[in-house]
Amino acid sequence: MAALPRFTLPLPAADFLRDHWQRKPLVARGAATGLDLLDPDTLAGLSLEDGVESRLIQGAGNGPWSLRHGPFTEQDFQTLPERDWTLLVQSVDHCLTDVSLLLDCFDFLPGWRIEDIMVSYAVRGGSVGPHFDQYDVFLIQASGHRRWQIGPVCDADTPRQPHDSLKLLADMPVREEHLLGPGDVLYLPPGVAHHGVAEDDDCVTWSVGFRAPRLADLLARITDEALADTQDSLFTDAGRTLPASSGQLSETDASALAQQALGLISPAVTQRALGQLLSEPRHPGLDFEVDSGHIRAAAPEAVLVRHGSTRLVADAQGLWLNGEHWPLPDETKPLGTYLASRRLYSAKALYPLLDTNGRTLINEWIEQGYFVALHEPFDGQ
Ligand code: SIN
Ligand code: CO
Repeated sequence: MAALPRFTLPLPAADFLRDHWQRKPLVARGAATGLDLLDPDTLAGLSLEDGVESRLIQGAGNGPWSLRHGPFTEQDFQTLPERDWTLLVQSVDHCLTDVSLLLDCFDFLPGWRIEDIMVSYAVRGGSVGPHFDQYDVFLIQASGHRRWQIGPVCDADTPRQPHDSLKLLADMPVREEHLLGPGDVLYLPPGVAHHGVAEDDDCVTWSVGFRAPRLADLLARITDEALADTQDSLFTDAGRTLPASSGQLSETDASALAQQALGLISPAVTQRALGQLLSEPRHPGLDFEVDSGHIRAAAPEAVLVRHGSTRLVADAQGLWLNGEHWPLPDETKPLGTYLASRRLYSAKALYPLLDTNGRTLINEWIEQGYFVALHEPFDGQ
């Protein structure tokens, strides 16, 4: 039976955000369903494609470990041993829109905070080794079983094994251990050491990974935007008082210089830089075809779906769509907010928001591949 992937927090979302988010791991048994829509052959098929980020990791215990990057060939898979390897494919939600629909269940966090869904396939003994990630992650067991060991919080100074690219921990004291089966979910905050080993063949794990912009990148974007916007204005100091010493940079002057420079970073400039940065997709993969038949069967009330690689952020002026701003008149803003707040749209909720302008825009966005109409033609009546 056709079903969409689903995740339900086992506690009120406000409690999760207060007690667990960025703070403490959580094991949620039986919290996910509908994960059988992605079979291992489809996943392996994605790893053969150019433009899809994939890795093959081999190793167990004290090693040796090896890491190879895709795209792979069928031959690569035929020569793998019987155990102790994992295939990992990044941004599967960008390629397979029905997989991306799981993300609608994470609306207890802002959409811009979500990065992507990585999916791993492992045979018995397969793992990526003991490590920590810099980002929050929900590790969702889709099939098979994985034994997770959880260690302490680490940072850049935590000793690593001498393997350049895998960044494995030299030592991981085990604080907790959990065996996850189909539908079980483990949430880990950034920095928590973990090691998940496949207990059987066909061990598939979906990782919903989050995005935390590097502060230096944010600042660079904001200043770039400010510089692009600014006329060649110069420091001004009409009405200045006599200096105590002409040789010294006074505190008053230092603060006026800094203030005038920082004044270039207006709220409008900041909003523009943030909207653009946060709506840029990890991979622009609009060319992947949407399995609309599956989505139609699983959600008969839906009339429109967002393509898996479309990132939307609504702001007070309009809608950011994959790094591009579409200003919206006041009457069309509720449409922008609705589109950005989910990925699957029902006739009942969408049609009342479509004025003439909204209908024209949606049709243009469908044309460009950002959305896919589930019933043709899309007239929005
Ligand atoms: C995996 O899916 O095998 C690894 C995911 C992780 O540990 O971050
Ligand atoms: Co990890």
